[in-house]
Amino acid sequence: MKFHVMTLFPEMVEQGLHTSILGRAMDAGIISVNTVNIRDYSEDKHRHVDDYPYGGGAGMVMAAEPIAKCYEAIAGAINQDGTEAGAKRTRVVYLTPWGRVFDQQLAKELAGEEELVFLCGHYEGVDERVLTEIVTDYVSIGDYVLSGGELPAMVMIDAIARMVPGVLTNEESGETESFMNGLLEYPQYTRPEEWRGQPVPEVLLSGHHAKVAEWRMQRSIDRTVKYRPELMDGVTLDKKSAKYYRELLAKDAEDRQD
Ligand code: ADE
Repeated sequence: MKFHVMTLFPEMVEQGLHTSILGRAMDAGIISVNTVNIRDYSEDKHRHVDDYPYGGGAGMVMAAEPIAKCYEAIAGAINQDGTEAGAKRTRVVYLTPWGRVFDQQLAKELAGEEELVFLCGHYEGVDERVLTEIVTDYVSIGDYVLSGGELPAMVMIDAIARMVPGVLTNEESGETESFMNGLLEYPQYTRPEEWRGQPVPEVLLSGHHAKVAEWRMQRSIDRTVKYRPELMDGVTLDKKSAKYYRELLAKDAEDRQD
């Protein structure tokens, strides 16, 4: 899968993504990240890409033309790489706090694309006319405002790439699957068996796989109920886990009455 990133800070995106699991996937040729500097498409000798907002107000706005030219260069390259005439247009994601909130489901959906284009904005925003012309998806990574679209693009690329077949080893995918049942992850422990007076839960030392699995499922339920109770609505539990969850809710209700 190929990611194209339109940005004013290409090194930030390249360096941020070329590590760990994604770095390995790039070296193996399973994914690639093509960063394109919007400034290279500036129209003046000082390489400006922004200008004052019509109507006044603080801050600068990124101009339409350098972004359009940058996009056309990427779109041209995508088409030369074999996109057939009439084939569906490559999705273009604009990172913005007012977009649809990114989640695991959208990561999975976008991982089904062969190529994806990201537009990272800066300053007070981007001229609306180029957005309406090129953008297919407006996406936010959460309800807070960042200084630019680079970190959100990197967050999205990491989450999407992990869903691309071959990026994770079997063992790594297994771990992701267990989170994707919709529950939060269970607690993990490694050596030593006792650390500063705190022992590792006995069951994890037992070697009894079914008991370990049951314990982990229950701790996942505990954690989800405590920290993200709204996630429980979308979860399907097996019979045993459903019974545990019912009892936990009953106990919580009882505790609240005391
Ligand atoms: N740009 C600035 N803040 C953002 C956010 N929260 N999500 C996506 N893009 C952004």
